[in-house]
Amino acid sequence: MSDAFLRDALAGLTAVPKTLPGKYLWDEIGSDLFDRICHSADYYPTAQETALLPQAAADVARQVRPGVTVVEFGSGASRKIRTLLDALPEPAAYIAIDISGAYLEAAIRRLAPDYPGIAMVPVCADYSKPVTLPVQAGPGGILGFYPGTSIGNFDPSEAGRFLERARKTLGPSLFLVGADGTADPERLQRAYGAADGLMAAFHRNILTRLNRECGADFDTDNFRHQIRLLPDPFRVEAHLVATRPETYRLGAHTIAFAASESIRTDTSHKYTADAFQALAREAGWQPRALWQAEGGSFKLHLLQAQD
Ligand SMILES: C[S@@+](CC[C@H](N)C(=O)[O-])C[C@H]1O[C@@H](n2cnc3c(N)ncnc32)[C@H](O)[C@@H]1O
Repeated sequence: MSDAFLRDALAGLTAVPKTLPGKYLWDEIGSDLFDRICHSADYYPTAQETALLPQAAADVARQVRPGVTVVEFGSGASRKIRTLLDALPEPAAYIAIDISGAYLEAAIRRLAPDYPGIAMVPVCADYSKPVTLPVQAGPGGILGFYPGTSIGNFDPSEAGRFLERARKTLGPSLFLVGADGTADPERLQRAYGAADGLMAAFHRNILTRLNRECGADFDTDNFRHQIRLLPDPFRVEAHLVATRPETYRLGAHTIAFAASESIRTDTSHKYTADAFQALAREAGWQPRALWQAEGGSFKLHLLQAQD
C-alpha cells in the first residue's frame, strides 16, 4: 500500500488546491476513530440508519431466498450487518469488503462466533477499483449492502462508476444502499466538524500515516480541522488548514504550505431521494424501495440489478 499511498499523496499535495484521497483515512487507527464517531450524539447518520434497519431488513428478508450470500462494501466494524443477518432466511455467507485490513480481520473474528452457520469471508480490497468475489454465491443468490454515507464520499460521477462496478461484482442481485440528504448547516457542522473532537483526530491521522508509512515529517499540530459547506453539487468538505507557513518532507520530495493553505481530506455529497435514484438508474439499477424516518434525512434505498 505504501508505494501507491506515496504516489497518490505526491500527486494530491503538489496539485492546486492540495488534496489527499479519502481512502487513506482508513487504517486501524482511522477505523477505530470512526467507530467512536458513530457512537457520538453529533453524528446523526448512524443513529438514523440504525433506527431504519430493522424494518428495512424485515422487508428485504421477504424478497430473498434462503441461502443468500450477503456482500458488504466498506464493512468497518461489521455492526449493522447483524441486523440483516438476523432477519434474512438462513443466509449462506457474508463477504465483507474493506480496505482497512487488520481492522476487517478483527471485526470478522468478533462476528463469526455469533453466526456459526454462516461462512465468513473477509476481503481486503479497494472498492474504488473492480472487485471480484472470491467465492461463488450461495443457492439464494446475492444481496449487496453498502450502509452508512460512504457513497457520498465519491463525487457524483465516481459514485455512478462505483454503482456500475458493484453491478458487475454482484451480478443479478438486490443492493441495499445508504445515502444521506441533510441540508441543515448546523447539523452538518456538528456532525462533521465536532463529533466530540474525534473528527479532527480522524482527519489528522492521514498525516500521521504519511509520517509512518511514506517518510514524511508533517507536524500534525500545525493543521486545524475545518468543515466547508459548498453548493452545486451540495457537499461537505473536510480540510486540514496549515496555521503557519512550513515546508515538509514527503519521501524524497518537499511540500510547501503557505499560512492558511489547506488539504482537502474528504468530501461528503448529500443526495435527495430523486437524485440518488437517477444516479442508480444510470448505473444499471432499478430502485425498488426506500426507507426514511419521518423528519429524518438518511435513506436506505433498495435497488435491483436491471436485466
Ligand atoms: C464510513 S465507514 C462505514 C463503516 C460501516 N459500514 C458503517 O456503516 O458504519 C467506511 C468504511 O469503508 C471502508 N472504505 C473506505 N474507502 C474504501 C475503499 N476505497 N475500498 C474499500 N473499503 C473502503 C473504510 O475502511 C470503512 O470501514
